[in-house]
Amino acid sequence: MYIIDTRGCIVSYSNFFNIPKIIIALDFCNKKSAMKLVNLLDPSIYYLKIGKEMFTILGCKFIKELQEMGFNIFLDLKFHDIPNTVFNAIKAAADLGIWMLSVHASGGKKMLISAKKALKSFKTPPLLIAVTALTSLKEKELKEIGIQISLTEYILKLSKLSHDCGLDGIVCPGREAKKIKFLFGNKYKIITPGIRIAKDLPYDQNNIITPKKAKELKIDYIVIGRSITMSKNPIKKLDLIIKSMQ
Ligand code: C5P
Repeated sequence: MYIIDTRGCIVSYSNFFNIPKIIIALDFCNKKSAMKLVNLLDPSIYYLKIGKEMFTILGCKFIKELQEMGFNIFLDLKFHDIPNTVFNAIKAAADLGIWMLSVHASGGKKMLISAKKALKSFKTPPLLIAVTALTSLKEKELKEIGIQISLTEYILKLSKLSHDCGLDGIVCPGREAKKIKFLFGNKYKIITPGIRIAKDLPYDQNNIITPKKAKELKIDYIVIGRSITMSKNPIKKLDLIIKSMQ
């Protein structure tokens, strides 16, 4: 079903095109720990997500190093600011040769259009995706910030807004994926965090799904963090994840 090389890394597996692609969230507090995992991963199979923690610690230099190893980078800084600031930040990020970039859809129409405009001059622009609702968010927390509609309605509203502003896709919990694919079609990418398999702890995530469910829902990319980064044997865990989707 899949081939493992001498280091114990999965380098190839069958049915590759029918399962969600795997983005590993490199959420570590130092480079040494991150590289211990990165060195086990094949860049032709896995994408790497650099979030606020690693970017704040290691910055652009680390991104360049990973790119030189052949990895496609999802820079998940979830920009959320006035349109002009987001425009300039997106341009700066795209200059790094990033593969995927994120903004918060709740920044509004003008901000989203500005983000899209910033990529106009790039020959191969990064995929621009919008975070609808954090997968950690509970229904009650939406009310606390003054939003009176349900979490699902909120996610669908922001998905439509991002779609209408020309973004390439959205980050959303698995629960809403089917509806979003139905409404906006297959070209509109869905990226889903909150991925857990049996015995994994949810930690702060409130909307979790299994990799198998993600496949059934035709989710394009799954983001996996602690299920791998906290595992004593990340390769064995990736084996299990991939097997569960075959
Ligand atoms: O460890 P875990 O698998 O829960 O990590 C999920 C990753 O996805 C984290 O890096 C988090 O920042 C990110 N993320 C998320 N929910 C979103 C967007 C991004 O959990 N809506």
